[in-house]
Amino acid sequence: MSVAALLGAIAPVGVDGKRGGYSRHGFDRADLDLRAWFTEEAGRRGLSVETDRNGALWAWWGSPGDGAVVTGSHLDSVPGGGAYDGPLGVAAALVAVDLLRDRGFTPGRPLAITVFPEEEGGRFGLACLGSRLMTGSVDPATALRLTDPDGATLADALAYAGLDPARVGRDGAALRRIGVFVELHVEQGRGLVDLGAPVGVAHSILAHGRWRLRFTGEGNHAGATLLADRRDPMLPAAGVVLAARRAAAAVAGSRATVGRIVPVPGGTNVIASSVDLWLDARAADDARTRAVVAEISAAAAELAEAEGCAVSVTEESYGDTVVFDPALRDELSGVLGGVPDLPTGAGHDAGVLAAHVPTAMLFVRNPTGVSHAPSEHATDADCEAGAAALADVLAHLAR
Ligand code: GLV
Ligand code: MN
Ligand code: MN
Ligand code: MN
Repeated sequence: MSVAALLGAIAPVGVDGKRGGYSRHGFDRADLDLRAWFTEEAGRRGLSVETDRNGALWAWWGSPGDGAVVTGSHLDSVPGGGAYDGPLGVAAALVAVDLLRDRGFTPGRPLAITVFPEEEGGRFGLACLGSRLMTGSVDPATALRLTDPDGATLADALAYAGLDPARVGRDGAALRRIGVFVELHVEQGRGLVDLGAPVGVAHSILAHGRWRLRFTGEGNHAGATLLADRRDPMLPAAGVVLAARRAAAAVAGSRATVGRIVPVPGGTNVIASSVDLWLDARAADDARTRAVVAEISAAAAELAEAEGCAVSVTEESYGDTVVFDPALRDELSGVLGGVPDLPTGAGHDAGVLAAHVPTAMLFVRNPTGVSHAPSEHATDADCEAGAAALADVLAHLAR
């Protein structure tokens, strides 16, 4: 079966009729359907599927064991996301197993495909939730209290999925099972297009995090309240959007994005009483990322004061720069006959795992260079080239 056929089979799942693209979020209906699809496809290949304490799926070729070669990605999406970010790595892993079987290959060490839950944080706000829980980089009690936009907690969502919230948390046994982790992913920029290469190896991930800024003013009437009498939190929020662009422009290679603003109560004829604004900031290293965020926070305080509003800034998640294991990078590039290695600004479960186990990523060319949007793309031929490259890498690592 081809990667395109596997992705085609899940194309109807989680289509977002309002926003376009896909909205598939951790443990929601679409995600549970995708998890069932993966379990079925793995079973069809004779792989035995188990679910770990944090809701990650593991499909084992042969007996589960420590020090395994593990590949995989995620099946959830951002709101209105593309078809490839996540599912490509899962589909390519299934096809890689087919290719290895066709070659008569038998793994010399345990081999598994994993699916990590809620990688995008599209439902509970915390990216790489599954791998953060597994590695203990988020406190389980805090995680279980995270809420989705409808007020359901992660604990509720896990219970809905038939998982036991009490078992969530650092999973040393699961980590020991990973001898080496390789995630294949659609590239989220134009690096491979510019290099004319279908497949590359990831070099590094920018430091990045998410901050929530809450502006509090006074809810009031849009018609009856004189301009001079307003304490409108939307004003400093709007100023912060511009300040974020200015702050990032001043630090080479950094990025700052405001992609989500929620005014409360959110009425056309109502001055908001408060506004929540989420800032995503990324840069080459910790110091530069912190400098950008400090600049934006200072602007937020100044803008809030000028409007008689209060502001609080809360760090919701953060991860320092990841440089993938240089020896493993070289080894995989060698296996693939010398492919380019390139940095990325996008976060991944592989980035979280890299602090704990030898980790690498393969990227597949994205002709649009667009990601986290419906126009994200990879050609069928490049998807197959990616799966073949992954098969070569797995055969080498599990020889
Ligand atoms: C996830 O894909 C991220 O980089 O935010
Ligand atoms: Mn993503
Ligand atoms: Mn992804
Ligand atoms: Mn990601």
